[in-house]
Amino acid sequence: MKLIYILINLLLMLQSCSVYALQNHPLAILWGIDDKDVSEWLEFERYLIAIDDILRPILEEESFISSFGGTYINIFYGTITVNTVDFSKVDELLALPQINPYNNSLYFREANNSLSQLKNNFGEISFLSKLKHAKNLYILTDMEYNNIVLYIFDRNDNNSEFLDAVKPFNPTIFYLDEEETPQTIIRPRRDADNSKREIRTKLLNGDGLYNGYLCSAGFWAMSRDEPMPLYIITAGHCINLTDYRNDFYYVPWDWDWNATQSKLYLGPMIFHSENENPDFLVIQVDGEDVFPSYAIRNTDNDQYKEFIITNDAPVSSQGVHICKSGYTTHFTCGFVKGLNGIFIRKESYISDLIVTNLNAERGDSGGPVISFVSPQDLNSVVLHGIHVGGGGGLAVANSIETIFKELEEESDIRRLQDLVLYLGNS
Ligand SMILES: *[C@@H]1O[C@H](CO)[C@@H](O)[C@H](O)[C@H]1NC(C)=O
Ligand SMILES: *[C@@H]1O[C@H](CO)[C@@H](O)[C@H](O)[C@H]1NC(C)=O
Ligand SMILES: *[C@@H]1O[C@H](CO)[C@@H](O)[C@H](O)[C@H]1NC(C)=O
Ligand SMILES: *[C@@H]1O[C@H](CO)[C@@H](O)[C@H](O)[C@H]1NC(C)=O
Ligand SMILES: *[C@@H]1O[C@H](CO)[C@@H](O)[C@H](O)[C@H]1NC(C)=O
Repeated sequence: MKLIYILINLLLMLQSCSVYALQNHPLAILWGIDDKDVSEWLEFERYLIAIDDILRPILEEESFISSFGGTYINIFYGTITVNTVDFSKVDELLALPQINPYNNSLYFREANNSLSQLKNNFGEISFLSKLKHAKNLYILTDMEYNNIVLYIFDRNDNNSEFLDAVKPFNPTIFYLDEEETPQTIIRPRRDADNSKREIRTKLLNGDGLYNGYLCSAGFWAMSRDEPMPLYIITAGHCINLTDYRNDFYYVPWDWDWNATQSKLYLGPMIFHSENENPDFLVIQVDGEDVFPSYAIRNTDNDQYKEFIITNDAPVSSQGVHICKSGYTTHFTCGFVKGLNGIFIRKESYISDLIVTNLNAERGDSGGPVISFVSPQDLNSVVLHGIHVGGGGGLAVANSIETIFKELEEESDIRRLQDLVLYLGNS
């Protein structure tokens, strides 16, 4: 009897150990599944994204844009939800040879707002947000709510003029009403210095950057034609406005601010976007103590310490997974809640944003926003953009396309106009 008892206990212990051991990959944690199932789930998500990529442009066509109200992917149901205003058009859609093979993956859900209505309402509401000086909120087209959603940080802000003006467009309104968590910057105690070091250190995307404020390194970039110098992109609001140089230093994760250890010098800021929309700045890396990388830091986990960036890409589906790496909260994942969103906080107004529900805090600003794309290689990721703000359970990112486009159009420095993501010297 006793032996059986011991055996059962041993079995239970083994089981609980293995439960922990089996959730290492960030997607296993996000989706609540075992590591061994991540490939299969990711493959399935890729499959749904591929269908959604076929479907979305069709739903934008003249014959459907007033009948359907956008799509989103739900990996847990294994379907693409298609908001449906006019069910008489469903058969016409399913009859299309590009769509018909996937009919079992589509779930047609009754909805009130068509895509043309949503686009119109979003345009009106974003216009009014400027005209009426809306304060401290997110504005996004959320396909799950089939509506324009306003997340308002603080109901004590006087937004009455704006809210009255948008009433005809009937947005869904949520109040986040939580303590102030402005996700900008933190001020650690010690000053930086740049005394020399012997060994060059690899600066990973997601590591900390310091110029008196603390932020995170988004990604390394290079000019298409000139291999040197290299650049690091981070959030624009990390700038010290009263410092004409803005020299940046490297701060690895878990940096001991009390130790007398000196920080490695990176270089000065050489570009800062006007109005911080998009919200980014460019550091020219002159320091010789660090070497570049195209890996994302996740060193909290022994099995998946680094993820390799294979490319950059836009996010186009809602409901899919998305992750970021940053100095404060390290590597976290969530889901895409909206695209082309707007974030208004204090003096800042940022548009064209990827809106997600991933966890981020002050100090994470600038960190890379990525997703996993290869079921065969769970260490490889594509880069979507950089984390630029958040609070109240949501986070926003500027896409890499908007960053490169801004540099192309607005930079006076020739070699910044054709900046590309650094992917090694291959
Ligand atoms: C969906 O596809 C299956 C198999 O391809 C087919 O049998 C079924 O009739 C289709 N349903 C519709 C509504 O087209
Ligand atoms: C559509 O609008 C009607 C009337 O406002 C409402 O009763 C219904 O619940 C709405 N349907 C959905 C799916 O939101
Ligand atoms: C809010 O602002 C409007 C106009 O800007 C003003 O008329 C109103 O009194 C203000 N409300 C509060 C509660 O301050
Ligand atoms: C910003 O720069 C000014 C001028 O160099 C400096 O005095 C100030 O301490 C800096 N602010 C922070 C937070 O480091
Ligand atoms: C650093 O020093 C402060 C006060 O001197 C102390 O409160 C804090 O715990 C120390 N941090 C570490 C990581 O030792």
